[in-house]
Amino acid sequence: MRIAVLTSGGDAPGMNAAIRAVVRYAGYRDIEVFGVERGYIGLVNDDMKMMSKRSVSGIVQRGGTMLMTARCPEFVDYEVRRRAAENLANRDISGLVVIGGDGSFRGMNALYKDFGIKTIGIPGTIDNDLAYTDYTLGFDTAVNTVVNNVNNLRDTMSSHERVVVVEVMGRSAGDIALYAGIDSGAEIILVPERPANFDEVAKVLDRGKRNGKTSAIIMLAEGAGPVDNVITELKSRLPELHFRSCVLGHIQRGGAPSGADRMLAARFGARAVELLESGVGGRVVGIKNNEIIDMAVDEALAMPHVFNDNLYNLAKILSL
Ligand code: F6P
Repeated sequence: MRIAVLTSGGDAPGMNAAIRAVVRYAGYRDIEVFGVERGYIGLVNDDMKMMSKRSVSGIVQRGGTMLMTARCPEFVDYEVRRRAAENLANRDISGLVVIGGDGSFRGMNALYKDFGIKTIGIPGTIDNDLAYTDYTLGFDTAVNTVVNNVNNLRDTMSSHERVVVVEVMGRSAGDIALYAGIDSGAEIILVPERPANFDEVAKVLDRGKRNGKTSAIIMLAEGAGPVDNVITELKSRLPELHFRSCVLGHIQRGGAPSGADRMLAARFGARAVELLESGVGGRVVGIKNNEIIDMAVDEALAMPHVFNDNLYNLAKILSL
């Protein structure tokens, strides 16, 4: 049996560890693996090469993706997908593991439905915006990276008695801001799921000041930004406070994966290979209550993102 693996969309820490798990677990099951470069673009251009257990040595600890990644909007085109399917068929490849986010899963599903390529998705995105799984690969590392950077910000902000608004990624999800906000003791967390009431935010900052707080961290999800807008709103209500902004950007997408992400990668990769070996496709793997699960892509993508209000409310209490 022959399968292929690719990474698609934004890179996420742990993608390399997942590639390694797929290649090594497949090798253990006597399955040959091709690595496709640059995601779906590589599939269309036939940029793929056979991988071996040794070709994935020394990558478990590296961020990014050794296969490189890209976004491929042309993949919505049937003819483009047909070329990709033909390239796989010409090499006798019957299964494909796609490591990426929701857009990548949609492309993979079309390949399965139109051409019968057995496809399995591994959720790889820092955003944690896939509702069917408790965690996506890369989220834990990104949260840790944000927390480490906010530690540095806290030092300088408290020394100067300033308020910093830190903008983090997440696209239209607020999970990175929520988790990193709690982990770094942020005074305020602003997320797209719960639109900001700036009068309330100003009240919290003012109350903190009267209670002896000399500086504050506001954790802002990019979907609730932009940061300049937040600062303008708050400055007009609290002209006596000194505001600064910090957009963490792509710093939070790189770096060595955390232990939790490496563990997820190992478990996801092994399950993906097992599913392909059993002859199924059009499915995604995930984790629920620390158990690895799999389900149909359609079902997984239809689940609405649920924001964790318990954590959000806890954050408010703990930052008083
Ligand atoms: O999906 C991952 C992500 O990092 C989002 O959080 C962010 O909005 C987007 O990708 C940035 O994309 P790009 O790397 O193309 O600028």
